[in-house]
Amino acid sequence: MKIPPVKGTRDFYPLDMARRNWIIDGWKRVSLRNGFEEYDGPIFEYLKMFQLKSGDEIAEQLFSLTDRGGRELALRPEITPTMARMMNQQINSLPKPIKWFSVPRLFRAERPQRGRLREFFQWNVDIIGVDDVLADAEIIFTTIDYLSSVGLTPRDIRVKISNRKLLASALTNIGIPEKQLYSLYALLDKYNRIPPDVFEKTLAEQVPDSAPAKKIVDFMNTTTLSEVPEIVGKDPEVDTAMQELASLKDLLEQMGVWQFCDFYPSIVRGLAYYTGVVFEVHAVGGELRAVGGGGRYDNLLQDFGGPSIAATGMGMGDCVLGILLEERNLIPEDLSTQQLDYFIASADKKYFPKVIEITAKLRRTGKAANFAYKPTGLSKQLKQASVQGAKKCIIIGSEIESGKLVVKDMATGEQKTTELDNLLK
Ligand code: HAM
Repeated sequence: MKIPPVKGTRDFYPLDMARRNWIIDGWKRVSLRNGFEEYDGPIFEYLKMFQLKSGDEIAEQLFSLTDRGGRELALRPEITPTMARMMNQQINSLPKPIKWFSVPRLFRAERPQRGRLREFFQWNVDIIGVDDVLADAEIIFTTIDYLSSVGLTPRDIRVKISNRKLLASALTNIGIPEKQLYSLYALLDKYNRIPPDVFEKTLAEQVPDSAPAKKIVDFMNTTTLSEVPEIVGKDPEVDTAMQELASLKDLLEQMGVWQFCDFYPSIVRGLAYYTGVVFEVHAVGGELRAVGGGGRYDNLLQDFGGPSIAATGMGMGDCVLGILLEERNLIPEDLSTQQLDYFIASADKKYFPKVIEITAKLRRTGKAANFAYKPTGLSKQLKQASVQGAKKCIIIGSEIESGKLVVKDMATGEQKTTELDNLLK
């Protein structure tokens, strides 16, 4: 019986694995150079962990299960709630500010589409304990630091920035009750992703009066920040939000990355917990979903039973990023699936036992070494060495009787005879 792979999952053959590692190694390198420490949590958590604060969209996409003890669990669709839980557990002993990063494998039962799967990897960077836009600026800088390190330019990607406080004020001022805000955020987040008639119909179900509904649509259509106060009306929250965005721009200019950024009032973010600056990274042109996104979530740790503490962060998946890098030819072509220091070949099959012995010895000195299971002609073995990407090929022939062997440099073709003892030192 042939069993197909599950919908929305990927098989990683060695070359796919080399690409995945190349992306993840880059995320890790950039996190470390920006001062973040790595953490991880379990792949499953209590179901209620993701029903509490992630929002309806994520709750509808959970892969849930009941364990043998009757506990309701879910595979993690994001790592932010786990991070909040872990930090709360040690909040008094962790030195502040806390700068953590992680690359979890996540699961969401989405409709599989270009750039959205049911299982994916997501880079997360988060800063906890800094109640200042400087932390938001650092998160955005780190995001851009990675994207530019792999060759993406302001012509390829844009970081679209807004502030949840603007939309929250706009909605509150037109009389939307607080408890309805979260379901509206989820709908507004889809504004550019669903057909206008579907959007209008769903909006009318939530906001039946046409005047406030029109104001919401006007807000979603604003393209410049200066128009916002006009639409939203005078409000101290709006002033604060505008000031935060102005300081954020100054900081990103100082950091030399503002040329990647634009203010975009209609950036909402689907997740329920954002409270301040929010942003998404989008590819220029084309119809790809967001490359990544994040923002400030100052209430989440408290919502999970911890202290009131400022928090901001970002998540970037490997799917849209992978498509974008491939489209722009930015994935190195020479990614190797094997990294051999030596391939050990025999000039005659009578030296095969020596091949096994020397390979094992080299491996035990820490060298990556391989050999052909069936000793064939030397030229076939050399070909295998080259296919496996070996840097050098050791040829064992009659010289081995006097403790010597031939080492061939696979890049230059140069050959020299060396003492076995020297090689093993
Ligand atoms: P999110 O917007 O749900 O945020 O996801 C962030 C990114 O993860 C997306 O922009 C996309 O790159 C990737 N992603 C999401 N769903 C899928 C999927 N089904 N397939 C492939 N990639 C996907 C969060 O998850 C927040 N927890 C991020 C965060 C961290 N905010 C603060 N700290």
